[in-house]
Amino acid sequence: MENRCSFSSVVTLLVLLSLVGSQQSCNHPKCDPGFILQGCKCVRCPWNTYWLVKQGHAQCERCTTICSAQRHLVEVNKCTYTVNRRCHCQAGFFCASVAQFTCRRCKPCPQGTFSKDSSLSGSCQAYTDCTALGKAVVTKGNRTHDQVCGTLKKMTLSKDKDSLLTMQS
Ligand SMILES: *[C@@H]1O[C@H](CO)[C@@H](O)[C@H](O)[C@H]1NC(C)=O
Repeated sequence: MENRCSFSSVVTLLVLLSLVGSQQSCNHPKCDPGFILQGCKCVRCPWNTYWLVKQGHAQCERCTTICSAQRHLVEVNKCTYTVNRRCHCQAGFFCASVAQFTCRRCKPCPQGTFSKDSSLSGSCQAYTDCTALGKAVVTKGNRTHDQVCGTLKKMTLSKDKDSLLTMQS
């Protein structure tokens, strides 16, 4: 048993050494971005992987999983052989837990706040404070739109209303 184990590790070591040897003997220049050296050839990163250099070593890494609409994610960058997929939280949501290329958890904007674009932002924006501006809310806000302020004109509304009412009755 022990012998077999050590025999297989010797074989593994030899295989690894021969791989390193063959790479060295290729005398191949560096591959272009998106390509890695396989045998003696530069091959493109396969489907659903992208190219990146980790500790000086080019490799093809699995792309971030599909931006799930159920999780309120939208794709802002496709997965290609050169770049990873990126997902943002859709408008009306903020990212409660951000990761490098995506958001782990998108949460709806709390009452009184909005987010008009998809983002990885950790919070939503507060509605414009109409009262602080001495104005009134003309259009109500929602999770994707700010509220709209305006000035209410003091018109002779009551008179018009009265005439309308009399007209209707
Ligand atoms: C939010 O408000 C905007 C502007 O008032 C409107 O166009 C949009 O339909 C609203 N969205 C929802 C989900 O109610």
